[in-house]
Amino acid sequence: MSRSSELFEAAQKHLIGGACAGGRFNPLLGQPLYVARGQGSRFWDIDGKEYIDLFTGSGATFLGHNHPAINEAIRQALDVGIIVNGETEYHSRFAEMIADAVPCAEKIRLQNSGTEATMGAIRIARAYTGKPKILKFEGHFHGMHDYAWFNCSTPLGGLRDDGTVAPIADSDGMPELMSELIVVVPFNDIEPFARAVRAHRDDLAAVIMEPVSYNQGCIPADAEYLREVRRICSDSGVVLIFDEVLSGFRMCRGGAQEYLGVTPDMCTLAKALGGGVPISAICGRTDIMSVLNPVGHTVISGTYTGHLVSVMAAIACQTEIAQPGFYDHIDALADRLYTGITDLLSTTGIPGIVQGIGARFGLYLGVTEPVTNYREATKCDREMEIAFLLGCVKRGLYLHDYGHLTPMHHGFSAQHTTEDIDEALGVIEDVFRDIRA
Ligand SMILES: Cc1ncc(COP(=O)(O)O)c(C=O)c1O
Repeated sequence: MSRSSELFEAAQKHLIGGACAGGRFNPLLGQPLYVARGQGSRFWDIDGKEYIDLFTGSGATFLGHNHPAINEAIRQALDVGIIVNGETEYHSRFAEMIADAVPCAEKIRLQNSGTEATMGAIRIARAYTGKPKILKFEGHFHGMHDYAWFNCSTPLGGLRDDGTVAPIADSDGMPELMSELIVVVPFNDIEPFARAVRAHRDDLAAVIMEPVSYNQGCIPADAEYLREVRRICSDSGVVLIFDEVLSGFRMCRGGAQEYLGVTPDMCTLAKALGGGVPISAICGRTDIMSVLNPVGHTVISGTYTGHLVSVMAAIACQTEIAQPGFYDHIDALADRLYTGITDLLSTTGIPGIVQGIGARFGLYLGVTEPVTNYREATKCDREMEIAFLLGCVKRGLYLHDYGHLTPMHHGFSAQHTTEDIDEALGVIEDVFRDIRA
């Protein structure tokens, strides 16, 4: 019996499903991945197998494993002491760095996770507008609170006459009442969006979206569509929130809002914000963010909010990201990987397309037209994709899967090299040829 199978068996005694988080159970492996250690672009599992990492902690370890600057910052934070529930000079320095990079970030409130950040952003928008409803897009994921966890990875909801999609909760345990506060529309289609906003504008506090929806691989908002969404929100007194938990810093320091050239009223950041430590941020216009206590009466707080270890690690991460040439390296790897996979699809005759922006991408097998929304993403050949992912994992190229209806995102870190990418492409070619055979 392998060491990881032994650990899995032992873990199930007290951990449900043998894991601390449901998403850590990897359906490809039939158990969680047990990691021994990581270094740069690679990690080793508990049985000593080496992997090139194209999961990168679900996009959190943007600077790779064991980055010396992040490690050093954590050591410095420990020297200051485990400061809990206290402000330091580092907190405002970090906020300054975010404001410098992200267009909509006039004011910032820190949180610990993406889920907390989107939950807080929605509360702030509700307080600011005095309205209760939230509009979200089919397939977009905004964390696991009850406010917006609808139609992310569920079967397709019915299309209704008013252009909206029937809300379907992604988890049991969400009160039916929550669905009365959510409006779901298809992505990248302006007509149903405009109709839904017209119908609900008096009750609608916010529109929340992933401007590049990596949660179904990589589906960017069409630029013209996004400008129109921006205009309609402004005209309707609705707060536009970009959930940039995954897209933030992924392709440039300003994230998808800089890349697509549309500035929202608020945004949420996590993952690449801290390079792997638990930290997130709610950012937005001063007038909107001023509803927050102690200035206003909207409470977003917490014992571990802005924990010094995370803040100092995140300062180190942001310092690295701001170095000249940082994104030249990301862009060069992205081009090599995505062009490489596209060429391999063509030479091996596997039907599929790759869509990638910055350091993350989606691979859509079984379709040949660009994928622009959740409905199209569900048309992929998931069976072929599972065979592909499993083939890669067996050969030491780690890609994760959550067992959803649509492909998920994969990506590399800043510590990946052209050699890593070429090695990964070699594995991908072998697996494509196996599938073809
Ligand atoms: C766009 C988006 N929003 C929110 C979340 C939730 O973040 P967390 O897992 O840190 O709670 C995620 C997580 O993947 C995400 O991709």
